[in-house]
Amino acid sequence: MNDSMEARIDHLKRKRDAVILAHSYQPPEIQDMADHVGDSLELSVKASTTDASVIVFCGVSFMAETAHILSPDKTVILPEPDAGCPLADCIEVPALRTLQGMHPDSLTVLYVNSPASVKAEAYACCTSANALQVVESVPSDEVIFAPDRNLGTFISRSTKKRVHIWNGACRSHATADIGEMASRKEEWPDARLLVHPETPPEAWELADAVLGTGGMIRYVASSGSRRFLIGTEEGMVYRLKTLFPEREFMPAGLIYCENMKKISLQKVLLSLERLEPVVEMDPEVRRRAGLAVARMMETTG
Ligand code: 13P
Repeated sequence: MNDSMEARIDHLKRKRDAVILAHSYQPPEIQDMADHVGDSLELSVKASTTDASVIVFCGVSFMAETAHILSPDKTVILPEPDAGCPLADCIEVPALRTLQGMHPDSLTVLYVNSPASVKAEAYACCTSANALQVVESVPSDEVIFAPDRNLGTFISRSTKKRVHIWNGACRSHATADIGEMASRKEEWPDARLLVHPETPPEAWELADAVLGTGGMIRYVASSGSRRFLIGTEEGMVYRLKTLFPEREFMPAGLIYCENMKKISLQKVLLSLERLEPVVEMDPEVRRRAGLAVARMMETTG
């Protein structure tokens, strides 16, 4: 059944001149059939450089929106429009403007996990892969960082700039069970523990490295270790096992994003058949959000 579904997706993908992008948190069957699997930044780069006319984005809504911002002339499809992100939804324009009014010398660096309307109010965007680089690059000594407080705190420890941090969090990462992480470390004492910066500071203290998902792949590739405990969304364990079949990976506790799992092969097929749901946006919001996203892309090179 799945084989024929994948064959139908492949056929339609060619007919529609589409490319399928998938985040590393996506279910295994989606990662297996995607043209590119990556982190938020890598997928943004793919979205901005692809020759395809249609981008099918298997991820959550802010990621598909970013693809649309970067490639406004392409048709960007999110196969499940309800695949949202509670972290992105925790920030709105009026509240950010109030904070900006309180810190008039600050420029705003906004994590891409945010709505396009809020990106339009920011100086620059960032992902977990380039947050410190972007904060260092903005031409101000004070920065507002939003909406993830854990990533903001992590960055603030490595920069001399004054960072005003928004109090938002990813509920999957921020509620990671630290006791369970410690037990997993006891179970696999020889393993390296890698955690995402959206996890709380107590997790960073236990970890060997605090990295975004792309950084985790690079860490494993250059590490001599055989075993790794992974402190991020569980889809990443599948991704790492696929890339490094000779190594061992275990989740460092249950970190699960139900929104990332809303996309199925059936929904991808349907979205290619109907060429919807298409990501749409007010053109002025897109233009202003595009400036913030472009500053991120320029910084990252
Ligand atoms: P990455 O930047 O590592 O892709 O992480 C994305 C994300 O949404 C984490 O919750």
